[in-house]
Amino acid sequence: MKGIILAGGTGTRLYPMTSILNKHLLPIYDKPMIYYPMSVLMLAGIKDILIISTPEDTPNFQQMLGDGERYGIHLSYEVQPSPDGLAQAFIVGEKFIGDEPVAMILGDNLFYGSGLSERLKRAVDNAKRGKATVFGSLVKDPERFGVIEFDEKWSVVSIEEKPKKARSNFAATGLYFYDNRVVSFAKKVKPSWRNELEITDVNNMYLANGDLEAIPFSRGFTWMDMGTPESMAEASEFIRSVERQHGLKIACLEEIAYRNGWIGREALEPYAKKWENNDYGRYLLRILDSKVR
Ligand code: DAU
Repeated sequence: MKGIILAGGTGTRLYPMTSILNKHLLPIYDKPMIYYPMSVLMLAGIKDILIISTPEDTPNFQQMLGDGERYGIHLSYEVQPSPDGLAQAFIVGEKFIGDEPVAMILGDNLFYGSGLSERLKRAVDNAKRGKATVFGSLVKDPERFGVIEFDEKWSVVSIEEKPKKARSNFAATGLYFYDNRVVSFAKKVKPSWRNELEITDVNNMYLANGDLEAIPFSRGFTWMDMGTPESMAEASEFIRSVERQHGLKIACLEEIAYRNGWIGREALEPYAKKWENNDYGRYLLRILDSKVR
């Protein structure tokens, strides 16, 4: 199973913060934004990840995250020449995907709450069995998103991109799991009214084949897209408050790698010691001491 993080785009809604820095490198409380979606793929057990960004910004991601060895994973990079839509990720990533199933997550999406790991496991199983999975989260302004309509048995009735009038309050979050057909489906998508290759069109192809499952998140679950100054501030405040309350970090990539058994003490310890003068490094040392469970 492969994974893609889509971290390009123009960042216009965050200008001037994004005048020289890609949105996904900006801080959300104590980490760069991209750590949060990357942690989700790692929690899904995915070790082979492609980061797609703009021609200018891709070298920065490469410099920051390297080849992934620090996390016991393998990271590759590809450039999306212009932001022509989410479905383009599967065309840009065709060679990387090869003949495997693939998950994609948007670089500005935050997921936090109980039940995430079980849902991810179900989505991985679906992808391996030839089905697609999307996730629904309740929002008060569904018209801003892809909108999922469910029937009474939680089967998908429709999925529509930014409808004028939403048929439900369930937004399609920016996390998608597909079998290998996604590459050929993405190539069939035509540009939409906003001139983008819409992921919703890909999802509708799976739906037409009877192969789309939408998994709803429960009420206590937090999903946000961090694409505006307000939502970035909200996300930072949320992470700060949960981390302070529990004494646990959200999306600490080294911790996830260590707990997944992808890196050992010998790899984590020198890294933790290098940063022991700050909170992040001290947290990693506490993990090594098993003081955090
Ligand atoms: O956040 C969830 C929503 O994401 C879904 O509900 C929608 O169905 C889906 O279309 C998408 O909606 P947006 O229009 O809000 O996506 P946005 O243009 O904000 O892009 C999302 C992220 O992907 C953002 O971090 C920038 C990046 N991106 C976007 C495009 C269009 C790229 O890297 N390349 C692109 O071509």
